Amino acid sequence: MTTVENRIDSLADSPADFYERLAGAHVVPLWRVPGTDAPEPEPAEVPHVWRWRELIPLMEEAGRTIDLGSEAERRALNGVNPARRWGTTHTMVAGYQLVLPGEEATAHRHTPAAVRLMLAGRGHTTVEGEPVLMEPGDLVLTPGWNWHDHRNAGDEPMIWLDGLDVPFVRGLNAQFYEDFEDKRMQPARVAEDDSVARYGAGIVPAGPRTGRAHSPLMKYSYAATLESLERLRESEGDPEHGVTVEYTDPQTGGPVMPTLGCAAQLLPAGRRTRRRRHTSSTVFCVTRGSGHSVIGGRRYDWEQNDFFVVPSWTWYEHVAADGSPDVTLFAMSDRPMLEPFGLYREQLA
Ligand SMILES: [Fe+2]
Repeated sequence: MTTVENRIDSLADSPADFYERLAGAHVVPLWRVPGTDAPEPEPAEVPHVWRWRELIPLMEEAGRTIDLGSEAERRALNGVNPARRWGTTHTMVAGYQLVLPGEEATAHRHTPAAVRLMLAGRGHTTVEGEPVLMEPGDLVLTPGWNWHDHRNAGDEPMIWLDGLDVPFVRGLNAQFYEDFEDKRMQPARVAEDDSVARYGAGIVPAGPRTGRAHSPLMKYSYAATLESLERLRESEGDPEHGVTVEYTDPQTGGPVMPTLGCAAQLLPAGRRTRRRRHTSSTVFCVTRGSGHSVIGGRRYDWEQNDFFVVPSWTWYEHVAADGSPDVTLFAMSDRPMLEPFGLYREQLA
């Protein structure tokens, strides 16, 4: 008769090919799975700084050699984390995108959501028929499955930081992509910056809410962001973290995207933030000033327009350089992917 005790005995005396037979049966013995009893997460990426000074010459070369439209749907250089084959973090990609004067990047839509932080030049992104004017420091949203195209009618190259949740969406095998009809630009259906007129003052039109999972406001201007940061500094600046504001959906107070949270931080020259870590991973972009961060015990210097990764569950602090202009940082985080499931944790040193 087979008893539980007998079965445990037979496991202990298992023949040499036992593990091969398990593999052949498409099972894995839990006692051999690494990390099963790990007490805390191990980061899936490493800290890294992508430097504007190093990447812009490469971007300019791409501008000379890669035709937008016939060779590249988008002329974008995505940051690849040194610890990964692809992706800036395990959940997000970030990188620079270039549209030259006179160029158009035709309309398409995809389920991954994107945020754009304008860094240089001036131009338009049209989102679901709304032409959104982009100027340096502005945060512009192109939510998942929203038609979007980019146009540079000015004299200067447009360069912005892209931030997307592609690794997360692909991990869920939920990526869909579609070109706009005949691969052209979409027609404007409303006035320029229509959503700014409707939602930009932090008050919302009376009547039904949009019911969408993302913010209805497609642009958060840098001027308004700086004004908020400066006012907060005067009234209640935080001596440990500088001053931080979050970009929110004006209808709900929640994050701008269901998967991505965005924030802006002001660090007066010479200020050091308190050390912290959290289960979300973060891409920071330096919108003004220079300084360094200590991430996982190592120093990483940065200056204006650089972007860098703070991996999940890794201690970090920022230091604004002495004699630098006051630092402003933009932050994109995957925190909204964690919070609904009770998986967000934070620690302060
Ligand atoms: Fe896109």
